[in-house]
Amino acid sequence: MDGARDTGLKNVASTSSLAGMDDFDLSKLLDKPRLNIERQRSFDERSLSELSIGFAARASVENLEAMNSPGGRSYLDTPASSSRNSFDPHPMVAEAWDALRRSLVYFRGHPVGTVAALDHTEEALNYDQVFVRDFVPSAMAFLMNGEPEIVKNFLLKTLHLQGWEKRIDRFKLGEGAMPASFKVLHDPARKTDTLIADFGESAIGRVAPVDSGFWWIILLRAYTKSTGDLSLAETPECQKGMRLILALCLSEGFDTFPTLLCADGCSMIDRRMGVYGYPIEIQALFFMALRCSLMMLKHDAEGKEFIERIVKRLHALSFHMRNYFWLDFQQLNDIYRYKTEEYSHTAVNKFNVIPDSIPDWIFDFMPTRGGYFVGNVSPARMDFRWFALGNCVAILSSLATPEQSMAIMDLIESRWQELIGEMPLKISYPTLESHEWRIVTGCDPKNTRWSYHNGGSWPVLLWLLTAACIKTGRPQIARRAIDLAESRLLKDNWPEYYDGKQGRYIGKQARKFQTWSIAGYLVAKMMLEDPSHLGMISLEEDKQMKPLIKRSTSWTC
Ligand code: GLC
Repeated sequence: MDGARDTGLKNVASTSSLAGMDDFDLSKLLDKPRLNIERQRSFDERSLSELSIGFAARASVENLEAMNSPGGRSYLDTPASSSRNSFDPHPMVAEAWDALRRSLVYFRGHPVGTVAALDHTEEALNYDQVFVRDFVPSAMAFLMNGEPEIVKNFLLKTLHLQGWEKRIDRFKLGEGAMPASFKVLHDPARKTDTLIADFGESAIGRVAPVDSGFWWIILLRAYTKSTGDLSLAETPECQKGMRLILALCLSEGFDTFPTLLCADGCSMIDRRMGVYGYPIEIQALFFMALRCSLMMLKHDAEGKEFIERIVKRLHALSFHMRNYFWLDFQQLNDIYRYKTEEYSHTAVNKFNVIPDSIPDWIFDFMPTRGGYFVGNVSPARMDFRWFALGNCVAILSSLATPEQSMAIMDLIESRWQELIGEMPLKISYPTLESHEWRIVTGCDPKNTRWSYHNGGSWPVLLWLLTAACIKTGRPQIARRAIDLAESRLLKDNWPEYYDGKQGRYIGKQARKFQTWSIAGYLVAKMMLEDPSHLGMISLEEDKQMKPLIKRSTSWTC
């Protein structure tokens, strides 16, 4: 399985840390990359109206070409800083590359992904499979290291799986569904490799992974941006794959909201945790996938129809999220004073949130400066919990306005003990306990208080935090978080998650050598060292969506 190990630590020397740079100088950090970021703007900031109906003459090929603009990265110079400085790489970096390469999965001799975990001390369950979401940080690491081939193979392999007929009992799943995970079965006698995939029909809880399709689109754009290879995204197969995913999530149904209605457990939090409804993780990924698709869809007859629907949805979605999911001190105070039972379109309390349902913890937790997107908003139900992934992706996709992005970073800084503690990063905050835990999780023994998805700390989230920090010009926050991870991750053999209020304990049932903990660390290191990598996973703000925000955000406090 580890045939690629000897190709080795290709660019490891370049992944040197910035240790010693206590007093972080962003301008120095952005040194060469700043130029890249500036030049990319013409593409990234292209407004929705420009891309929309009536401007269709601008072929999307051009959008893709813009990805390949001089500001776009080419694998030949990745990572750019290898010759730029002489820091010694942190010893963990070499160990991490070695572990990441050991996790490679091959199909007929070609690498197609990485297993979720290589822990031989625990029962494998499905951790020996390639999970779509888990592979994203691995893919980023390989792209940043100038090894795009595996990412391309993965994108094509999963695209192929999308075409399978998917059934659960007698029900046929939507055509566009992407699997949660797949496995390669090697038959040494016959010398054949075959694939099996799980679209939710074998997963615990039998939930279809809504996030897989979104991650696939986001990864396709990252690949295109990183390599400048437009040909993959332009193939009829990839165009169709995108359209199928979009067809599933753009259908209107009976919903009154532009957000996407989901079952519990349909994303990274893949067990019952009370995130059903309109979870922030899915809404942020949905928004990002829509924006990425807009950049990659061709303006042919089929593509155009989707482009028009995407543009409309993005306008509605950004308005809804920025207004109704956003919580800061001011907004909390407004909700606290809400009247209820208001009828008609003049209602201020549109979703009839009953102030008595506001949990006690939020009043102390909310800083005067700072804010975040809450976990969920639906009729008479506001889930005030903090979820890390959704908030980081909101920053990266520019679902959050620049002011909201700053406010999220302010919150992380002022609530460091709660959200980062001794191991970055809390997946959700706070925990559910006692009666609430029983009701909401269905007495889940894995999701006990401050464990796993229920307030556990997940090292994989470090890469998303780091990307968000760089985007908002706050790399010192990432530096601090990476230092914490470096003090334990390797020593503890790269656990899947940590438990406890401060994240001090290796998770009760955490796998060791969890691939995305390893890859997440590498990606965080590489991005901090060469911030131009950020372009792969970050989209600039769309000016057209800006005037929609009316409510004051925390920066005015
Ligand atoms: C767990 C996590 C899920 C992850 C999988 C493989 O089920 O909850 O997010 O994809 O493990 O690591």
